[in-house]
Amino acid sequence: MIGARTDDPDGTRSLAGALAGHSRPGDLILLVGGLGAGKTVFAQGFAAALGVAGPVTSPTFTLVRQYRCAGTGPVRQLVHADLYRLDHLTEVADLALPELIEGEAVALVEWGDAGAPVLGESALEVALAPTESDRRRDGGAEPRTVDLAARGPAWAGRRDEIAAALRPFAADQRVRGAR
Ligand SMILES: Nc1ncnc2c1ncn2[C@@H]1O[C@H](COP(=O)(O)OP(=O)(O)OP(=O)(O)O)[C@@H](O)[C@H]1O
Ligand SMILES: [Mg+2]
Repeated sequence: MIGARTDDPDGTRSLAGALAGHSRPGDLILLVGGLGAGKTVFAQGFAAALGVAGPVTSPTFTLVRQYRCAGTGPVRQLVHADLYRLDHLTEVADLALPELIEGEAVALVEWGDAGAPVLGESALEVALAPTESDRRRDGGAEPRTVDLAARGPAWAGRRDEIAAALRPFAADQRVRGAR
């Protein structure tokens, strides 16, 4: 597992952007965390780094949104899904997310842990959570822990490069630096 931390929404966006640079077509990223944890904020930073133009908004009611990526990397499309309103795994399966990312796309799936059983074995799980230890900052910004766990071979081989890309956000480094 890779443990990271951000101080505010822009920090979460920039962490997501750093990860996006290491994403490849066919990747599935499960965004995990409670209401307001920062899953959509993460998706915004990820999308911006892939060259998505225009706003990325919550897909809570549309379930799935697709964006064209104008960046120079291999990812040509971003699929942003939200499973919050779905009660059954058959509904998750009906979204056909594995088919949507075949070829050129990456999928970010909010509340993705709920759908994991029908989304395939290979996924990067990104868990966002507020930290209890820090006081609330100005403007509603709060630190978040961001823990990344890779499942399956597509991600295992990239673990070291992702850890390196996220080193500026490393949770242990931040704790040491604060002392
Ligand atoms: N460090 C931080 N990272 C991300 N968001 C933060 C941070 N600090 C404060 N926030 C605020 O927390 C909120 C996160 O909202 P967001 O919509 O991204 O959550 P979500 O996990 O997608 O929630 P939902 O489950 O409702 O979809 C925003 O209002 C954002 O400004
Ligand atoms: Mg959301």
